[in-house]
Amino acid sequence: IGDKIGLTPALGWNSWNAWGLSVDDEKTRVSAREMSQQLAAHGWSYINIDDGWEIDKRLASGKITTNKKFPDMKATTDYVHSLGLKMGIYSSPGPLTCGGYLGSWQHEDDDAQTYADWGIDYLKYDWCSYGEIAPRNPNLAELKKPYSVMGASLNKVNRDILYSFCQYGMGSVWQWGEEIGGNSWRTTGDIVDTWDSMAGIGFNQDKAAPYAGPGHFNDPDMLVVGKVGWGPNLHNSRLTFDEQYTHISLWSLLASPLLIGCDMGRLDRFTLGLLTNDEVIAINQDVLGKGARQHIKNDKYQVWVKELKGGNKAVGLFNMTDQYQTINLSKNDPALQGFTKFKDAWRQQNIVISGNALTAKVAPHGVLLVTVKK
Ligand code: DGJ
Repeated sequence: IGDKIGLTPALGWNSWNAWGLSVDDEKTRVSAREMSQQLAAHGWSYINIDDGWEIDKRLASGKITTNKKFPDMKATTDYVHSLGLKMGIYSSPGPLTCGGYLGSWQHEDDDAQTYADWGIDYLKYDWCSYGEIAPRNPNLAELKKPYSVMGASLNKVNRDILYSFCQYGMGSVWQWGEEIGGNSWRTTGDIVDTWDSMAGIGFNQDKAAPYAGPGHFNDPDMLVVGKVGWGPNLHNSRLTFDEQYTHISLWSLLASPLLIGCDMGRLDRFTLGLLTNDEVIAINQDVLGKGARQHIKNDKYQVWVKELKGGNKAVGLFNMTDQYQTINLSKNDPALQGFTKFKDAWRQQNIVISGNALTAKVAPHGVLLVTVKK
């Protein structure tokens, strides 16, 4: 019957890259308030609590509950919903999460029901200690199993819960994530806020691109813009401004979920600008849900092309070097041939091509992101 929820990539916030295990109720509420005031008008909607909300021992009933950082998860969720936003939560198929809190192992039905009772809209399900339950070097069936088990539990409850797999790309999950009910699946290990990490992940996603589509997306991990820190040491993203344009451009072309990973209470103007450019978000949210393909790769630059509805395209010209590069893309290149309208998505300005090539001087590690129309 195909997917019915998450038809375009999720746009939201996740607590991990800013707060790590120190996420709490107040930080969640601040994030929701800021999202509703500053970002929701541009399509942002999910407030996702990552690891760190769980208690370390189940109730006598077998049910899970929160630790003292979240006094009342139902009330927190009601607050998030009252702002017109959606609420996400996190667990692991193992006995313990990566952070050492309680996972869902052997309590999948209990936990799915608890999430539904709280009003949860999104579950990130993180492999973590399931590695101790699974056979060594798990085969495909063994990799799929814990995700199918929780998927069946989620299907039993009377609530639509977007299902996000996190097992770091094992067994080329992009090839079978859809088949077992994933709305998204991480394709990689964890990102950090360096060019090597971000570019190493982002420019290595071509292999997964054919598997993206409405309701099921590749997830090359969360955004490292704004103030990040994974716990107590918040700092401005170490990506340069141009690297951040590349990050958001590439994740938009890839039809990745966009999950902001920063301190939402201290969004600066640059970060806000990055996250509220409607023409860029429209590329990410295109209804075809296609992932961009790597079109040109050489030692100076790369060109990635994403098909958009109506036969339009989005084209990213990325400078891979730490010096300015002039990138020429011939009008006869298949990415441009037959198109007459070209627009710089970040600057929201039409581009007039005078000669027989699109010529752009692109900043070090920067990008020109262009939408092309007939
Ligand atoms: C590993 C995941 O890849 C991260 O995104 C985060 O969820 C942590 N686990 C939480 O423990």
